[in-house]
Amino acid sequence: MPQRIAVVTGGLGGLGVAICRALAQAGRTVIAADLPASTEQLDRFRAHTAGLNIETAAVDVADFDACAAFAHDIEARHGALDILVNNAGITRDATLRKMDKAQWDAVIGVNLDSVFNLCRHAVDGMQARGFGRIVNISSVSGQTGNFGQVNYAAAKAGLHGFSMSLAREVARKGVTVNSVSPGYVETPMTRAMPDEVRDRTVASVPVGRIGAAGEVPEAGKLLKTPPRNTGYVEVSETISKAAYRAEKEADIAILEQQMSGENALNAGLSGQQIAIIRDNLRKIAATPGDTVSVRRYLIVP
Ligand SMILES: NC(=O)c1ccc[n+]([C@@H]2O[C@H](COP(=O)([O-])OP(=O)(O)OC[C@H]3O[C@@H](n4cnc5c(N)ncnc54)[C@H](O)[C@@H]3O)[C@@H](O)[C@H]2O)c1
Repeated sequence: MPQRIAVVTGGLGGLGVAICRALAQAGRTVIAADLPASTEQLDRFRAHTAGLNIETAAVDVADFDACAAFAHDIEARHGALDILVNNAGITRDATLRKMDKAQWDAVIGVNLDSVFNLCRHAVDGMQARGFGRIVNISSVSGQTGNFGQVNYAAAKAGLHGFSMSLAREVARKGVTVNSVSPGYVETPMTRAMPDEVRDRTVASVPVGRIGAAGEVPEAGKLLKTPPRNTGYVEVSETISKAAYRAEKEADIAILEQQMSGENALNAGLSGQQIAIIRDNLRKIAATPGDTVSVRRYLIVP
């Protein structure tokens, strides 16, 4: 099988890292495309993806010309762009009456325009080579709507229509286009939610819990057809306190990253989440023993 080249936008984020890892573990060459990141952020990403064939690239997916240059660069350097996972996304929540034009434009730009921007430049090569896989990460909000998210829900619903239409245009040339609509997944985006909103949200999930990032690439079956039916399995695992602390410090680092720069997402709320995580770490450090029991979520066919 030829070495497939996969691009994952928002590749440094919560779901992005999980998708990059899943693709690389399946033998793909992966390019994690994200906004310019600091050396520290990149070091963290590399630590999470050590040993895997993943490189990083800086691109603003809301910028049409930057996407053109990026897609052409990938094809020139790697010979192809076979798999495109449009995962970059942001929220700028407010009720319609309080939402300003900048909040609307930012969310439509990053969540929806980006998909046009990259697909427009990736599809020709995919069709010419007779192989392409495009996966657009939508959201359950785009199917059901969500209070305070007219911008986000519109973008995510738009993405679904985009996917169905493009699929009709390119299917005969070996290119598939799908959208995946995750429910609520544990990432910096959802960790930044206020506790009461988060609790209410989780209570509305049929399985009664938030998803884990690693479930999305598996549940979406990004590359294999037909998709398997999947179900959640929750397992308890005992790990060392040191490993637990390392995981949580990595979460804090991602939250801190989200609090700074132009991509700051609800900085105050991220600060609260960091305080909660630190408090929890203090409590765990005070318990006897060197290990801690954590809950993890697996997927079964
Ligand atoms: N977390 C959830 O519960 C959830 C649920 C449904 C859908 N989603 C969707 O999954 C995707 C990933 O979300 P996440 O939870 O991992 O969020 P995240 O905030 O952890 O990651 C998003 C990534 O997108 C990047 N990004 C933002 N603007 C960009 C731009 N202009 N150009 C390039 N990269 C940009 C960010 O830097 C970040 O690394 C998003 O599209 C989100 O809407 C998330």
